[in-house]
Amino acid sequence: MGVALLTQVSRRYFRHAIPLAVLSLLLLYLCARSFRVVSGCRSWAQSCNPEGPPPVQVRRQSGPLEAPKWKEPPCEGPQGVLGRVMEPFRASLNPEGDLALSQYLAGWRALVRFLTPLGSIFAFATDEASAKVTALEARVHGPEAAHYSSLAAMAAWERRAGLLERPGIAPRDPARSSGSRTLLLLHRALRWSQLCLHRVAAATPGGPEAGVQCGDAYRTALAPHHPWLVRQAARLAFLAFPGRGRWLGLACPGAGETEARAALARAAATLEAVYNRTQGLLAERGLLGLA
Ligand SMILES: *[C@@H]1O[C@H](CO)[C@@H](O)[C@H](O)[C@H]1NC(C)=O
Repeated sequence: MGVALLTQVSRRYFRHAIPLAVLSLLLLYLCARSFRVVSGCRSWAQSCNPEGPPPVQVRRQSGPLEAPKWKEPPCEGPQGVLGRVMEPFRASLNPEGDLALSQYLAGWRALVRFLTPLGSIFAFATDEASAKVTALEARVHGPEAAHYSSLAAMAAWERRAGLLERPGIAPRDPARSSGSRTLLLLHRALRWSQLCLHRVAAATPGGPEAGVQCGDAYRTALAPHHPWLVRQAARLAFLAFPGRGRWLGLACPGAGETEARAALARAAATLEAVYNRTQGLLAERGLLGLA
């Protein structure tokens, strides 16, 4: 009797305790992430925002503060935030219709640099992307580098060498994924970044906020591939999504809003071209189904 009651009580206790524990874990996870991003940006402010003054305002006021006469690099130029993303991604589209891996990874590095100051919402995506970029770079520059110059070369080699996972079955140790699978995961994250950039650029004033739009993009592109805990963390993080002004200010510091939006739209189109090419190459090789 007493034992039965005790079991009942403890069952009830656990029913409440487990969701609470999960919630606390989530909060802890999010706090840790935001803290890391914030402190990270402070300690390497230079690389966080290499283009000069903090992107506080999109439209620069003319006034006494304009005294120092240095010319701000246009954001799509070789020194601009978007230019540094677009240049390597464009170069990754090689004339043979293949995807050059070292350029693709250089594009990703620049994209992560662009997205990181936007805060914790991107931390879970960019931390993951950074780890995958590093893993693939290790192959591109490793002992088998000859086989990792392009997507087609990599896929052919990994198939020949028996390195490919079986479709739909996740590898037991994700750290030892094949290059093809690592690329597939990056490819999905690129889709999300591209949709997000595109929607921020195309949004009309008074339309849905950037956070809502990127949340939709997340549900389309990434959520189906993420475990429950990550999906919940993402859902919460979208609530603190940076506003459109901050996006435009980071993308094109000092530019007017129209100009910044046009530049962001062109960057999104570049990412789309890379996404399309990669999607086609992966599909031809039956690699979209790697878990
Ligand atoms: C990418 O592919 C889609 C669907 O096939 C197409 O509508 C779009 O124009 C393509 N985008 C680019 C930039 O090539």
